[in-house]
Amino acid sequence: MPREADVLSLLLGRKPDHALPRPFYCDPDVFDADMEHIWARAWLFAIPACELPKSGDYVTYDVGRRSVILVRGADGVIRAFHNTCRHRGSVLCTAKRGRSPKLVCPYHQWTYELDGRLLWARDMGPDFDAARHGLKAVRCRTVAGLVYICLADDAPDFEAFAEVAARYLAPHDLVNSKVAHESVTIEKGNWKLVWENNRECYHCSGNHPSLCRTFPEDPRYISADENGDAPAIVAAHAARCEAAGAPSAFRISDAGDWRFVRTPLLGAGESYTLDTKAAVSLPNSSLPFRDGGSLLKFSYPSTWNHFLADHAIVFRVTPIGPMETEVVTKWLVHKDAVEGRDYDLKRLTEVWLATNDEDREVVENNQRGILSPAYEPGPYSPIHEAGLIQFVDWYAQAMTRALSGAGADAIAAE
Ligand code: FES
Ligand SMILES: [Fe+2]
Repeated sequence: MPREADVLSLLLGRKPDHALPRPFYCDPDVFDADMEHIWARAWLFAIPACELPKSGDYVTYDVGRRSVILVRGADGVIRAFHNTCRHRGSVLCTAKRGRSPKLVCPYHQWTYELDGRLLWARDMGPDFDAARHGLKAVRCRTVAGLVYICLADDAPDFEAFAEVAARYLAPHDLVNSKVAHESVTIEKGNWKLVWENNRECYHCSGNHPSLCRTFPEDPRYISADENGDAPAIVAAHAARCEAAGAPSAFRISDAGDWRFVRTPLLGAGESYTLDTKAAVSLPNSSLPFRDGGSLLKFSYPSTWNHFLADHAIVFRVTPIGPMETEVVTKWLVHKDAVEGRDYDLKRLTEVWLATNDEDREVVENNQRGILSPAYEPGPYSPIHEAGLIQFVDWYAQAMTRALSGAGADAIAAE
């Protein structure tokens, strides 16, 4: 890519604790660099495992030019493969989801086992070696009911995240859950604007009337101060949940690419509902009380999640273009919960459906304003936007490292 050196110098010249220069939010070359150096390298949340309950269940997930099939095998294991046939490269699974005992290419019907082995290819001659034409595997790990993939050959470490995720998510039984609802939001904004908006609640009181009934906009609910101290109400909540066997303390990775923290909801709030009470009467967590708050998790660049006492919500972010991003939201409830009996779908989903749409609007406004020649990166609030500073620093370091082949600190010191 001819412009990678330019991207690097823009990164090195950015003003700390400020929004990024315009090209990071709209330039096609920066977008390509993001896709290659962030999205094709990092572990990406793909789906909750409960979305593929049976052998042969599959979904496809497109990340830029790379299409991936996630399929549950006859042995119960979920695997991922590049969705490109080993014959002449046709897309193998054309549907977004389905169930099939084998994976059959629509072009010439080469037929693959669910574990990727090529089973059948018609009239390929005596020298054809089927064993050398299996589907190309994509790294795939399932942790606590969440399926992650990595498109890189040399995947970064997953173990530290997997160990902490398994512990924090243990009280939330995602394995025995199901998807009660899924929504797809297309935001006309760069994927980093979607994240920046997610990492602050500075905008909440002015934009999210329904979410603000239960979600605390005070940033101290979510992150400890520089001394590692949380406000008394947050510390008391964490202590109560931890005593009940639910890890809750603020925990962030060394690289800053993932974080867990359990925050109380406002007042005696139980869930993200308009009446603040639980949305599901058959919970999918083992928390012994309903007001367990929300376990907040993010892992860059693809997901943020909320795990409540009664249900969970997983969000998946996927860039579509320099100024277009898909956000898929899934509401997970206990697998035996019955709509109309254990939960009302409207009540379960209305707060975040509204919130997602409100977020879409502010992100799109942000994108449009950045395109003005008058745009100049402004300062982040140190009180309310520390999460953005953290996100943008993570992004800048990851990109600087990838583009320069060295650590960001070393380069900055030059
Ligand atoms: S391209 Fe798939 S069978 Fe020919
Ligand atoms: Fe928001």
